[in-house]
Amino acid sequence: MVSREEFLREKGQEHLLAYFEQLSPEKQEELDKQLVQLDWKELDISASAETLAKRGAFTPIPALEIAQIEVQREEYEKLGLEAIKRGEIAAVLLAGGQGSRLGFEGPKGTYNIGKTREISIFSLLVANLKSVAKKADAWIHLYIMTSEINNDKTVEFFEEKNYFDYPKEYVHFFVQDMAPAVDFEGKLYMSAMDRLSYSPNGNGGWFMTMVKRGLLTHIHENGIKWLNVFAVDNVLQQIADPVFVGATLSKGVTCGSKVIRKANPHEKVGVLCCEDGVPSIVEYYDMPEDMAKQTNPDGRLTYCYGVTLNYLFNVDNLERILGRTLPVHLAKKKIDYMKPDGEWVKAVEENGYKFEYLVLDMIRYMDSCLACEVVREKEFAPVKNLTGVDSVETAQAYLEMNGKEL
Ligand code: UTP
Repeated sequence: MVSREEFLREKGQEHLLAYFEQLSPEKQEELDKQLVQLDWKELDISASAETLAKRGAFTPIPALEIAQIEVQREEYEKLGLEAIKRGEIAAVLLAGGQGSRLGFEGPKGTYNIGKTREISIFSLLVANLKSVAKKADAWIHLYIMTSEINNDKTVEFFEEKNYFDYPKEYVHFFVQDMAPAVDFEGKLYMSAMDRLSYSPNGNGGWFMTMVKRGLLTHIHENGIKWLNVFAVDNVLQQIADPVFVGATLSKGVTCGSKVIRKANPHEKVGVLCCEDGVPSIVEYYDMPEDMAKQTNPDGRLTYCYGVTLNYLFNVDNLERILGRTLPVHLAKKKIDYMKPDGEWVKAVEENGYKFEYLVLDMIRYMDSCLACEVVREKEFAPVKNLTGVDSVETAQAYLEMNGKEL
């Protein structure tokens, strides 16, 4: 049998044992447990990169465009509101990310986007959901995915704010899984002498985690047939939007995605297209240059539909794809860690990879997807950075443009 030392040396991870002898037997056992539980295949950076590089043939996808939606808006809205009233639609807020680009210590949803008064991102999201519930005359279940890092603070915030006057029994928190992080050479980071450095494992595990936490029973018991999954950071997010729900339901597809027309070939949004004939999303950093720049004879970008991280998934079909494994993405991030000499390092720039599953990879397993175009100025203002592109500044400007007093 190979010793722990030999095994780790072979994996190029012997630095993990720098303090092993100084640890108590309990702590040694604790570290051993973490090493045994690791998915070593997933930690192979070059293998992950190779898997991700293998893609099929891309073709553009037709969308339900704004002008077409306008013609049938009332019909779609009616259909959507009826489904909401029947309790068939629930919302899933993805709030487990670390928001490292924003550099804000707390959960991103607690960030105050107001100028003269407190307006948290969570308050904006719940207010939007409440307005739909009012229109449909029915409360909508809201599931909130958090991580081990921000769960307590998120729940406390909701408690403190009295759930923004949304009925508490309709709000359900669940905690996502974590994954280890490595430096650019693939060496695992540690956060303590007896602990690897873990971070949330991406937003793609949301449904699997809901199942693990027993929430599928809740979904079935409440007759929920569709889940509207959305990101925490879009302050103009339209949740359980009746028009989007109605349009998706009327097209007989298994999922829908809200899309915006890309502002330029290099805008940092994933693009909805077809891959080997089925709807699929290509992340901006995976998109070949010629594909990003390709235009139609009328000058319009061929691959022009950027995703806004607002999807509607059919529950039966989510269950159908449960056994399928999503690819692991290597996300370049700032990772705080402990050096082998015990010194704590606060990362000031990207210094390694986190391993992430992404919700966008679920689309190609769903077989069909409606690309539903929305007006960027009314629905898309993500807060990723403090200043510049997709920032607090741009989000505030969009909110004001939409008549919100900050
Ligand atoms: P981002 O891709 O913007 O990641 O998340 P992030 O971790 O929040 O921010 P950066 O990249 O470190 O600055 C998009 C959405 O997915 C959620 C986020 O909370 C956000 O709503 N997310 C991301 C999770 O729920 N879990 C994760 O592990 C990662």
